[in-house]
Amino acid sequence: MIDKIKEHIAEVEKFTAETAETVESFRIKYLGKKGILNDFFAEFKNVPNEQKKEFGQAVNQLKKAAEDKVNSIKELLESKEEDKGLYGDLTRPAEPIQLGSRHPISIVKNQIIDIFSRIGFNVSEGPEIEDDWHNFTALNLPEYHPARDMQDTFFIQTDPDILLRTHTSSVQVRYMEENKPPIRTISPGRVYRNEAISARSHCFFHQVEGLYIDKGVSFADLKQTLQYFTTEMFGKSKIRLRPSYFPFTEPSAEVDVYWGLNNEIDYRITKGTGWLEIMGCGMVDPNVLDNCGIDSKEYSGFAFGMGIDRIALLLHQIPDIRMLSENDIRFLEQFKSAL
Ligand code: DAH
Repeated sequence: MIDKIKEHIAEVEKFTAETAETVESFRIKYLGKKGILNDFFAEFKNVPNEQKKEFGQAVNQLKKAAEDKVNSIKELLESKEEDKGLYGDLTRPAEPIQLGSRHPISIVKNQIIDIFSRIGFNVSEGPEIEDDWHNFTALNLPEYHPARDMQDTFFIQTDPDILLRTHTSSVQVRYMEENKPPIRTISPGRVYRNEAISARSHCFFHQVEGLYIDKGVSFADLKQTLQYFTTEMFGKSKIRLRPSYFPFTEPSAEVDVYWGLNNEIDYRITKGTGWLEIMGCGMVDPNVLDNCGIDSKEYSGFAFGMGIDRIALLLHQIPDIRMLSENDIRFLEQFKSAL
């Protein structure tokens, strides 16, 4: 009889289970009302007196072994369940991280920076709140110069010397004041004009300014640089330079790129001409160089300025400039696949 109990103890110790049901049937088998242990307890009265002590100890040992086993397996299974609840299946592939998208202005700005950085231009920046000198006077636009009217300016009411810059040409001045030639820099940034807001114009928009100053820089260098830019940016190399006027350049020109008339959209955006105006440019006026501490007898250079918003509208066929600042997520999400 005692040997039988010892066999059971060995069996109990070996037992393992993966599911709660298996543990339960094991518990019933040993500890249940009609279980093995109760059978042994019922046997007790038939055991000869001199064996009662040993028998009793063995049965108690079996009971304890069975109870410990049931408890320890139950605990193990429960802790496994908890793990699942907290962390799920740890071997499952991770959820993809939601990525945002770049703003179309940033996309176009980065393209422009990339194209010019390949030919040695660095990136410079200046403040959006400017003084009269950097936005106007140093750029050959003294007080009462009629060309100041070309750019409706937001002034700070208490101080007419402080304004929101109307163009990024102000960064040219700051850069020349602080750096010696040779200079090759582009300056992207936000600019402000006191204009009525409509589908085609806004009171703030973005420009990129370009500046190249060295000994012997000529108009031919300007033209070549522009041609490189339009080829890289639009895949179009045919450009035309129309004489124009800017106080800070002489001579000055407006740059058109030949877009073509291959489809309805081309007709619409070029108003049927095939040509698209993309920027203003010119040879930096010697007065501007001198104003900024660069000897105009020794150095010459060219400058250009273009609107980022306009190019973004064109390239992405956006019908209204206001969409660029409305932050409508449905609009912005469309640029997910862009750079
Ligand atoms: N600042 C001009 C504007 O806002 C654009 C411009 C034209 C910049 C000619 C230049 C330039 O540097 O040479 O309309």
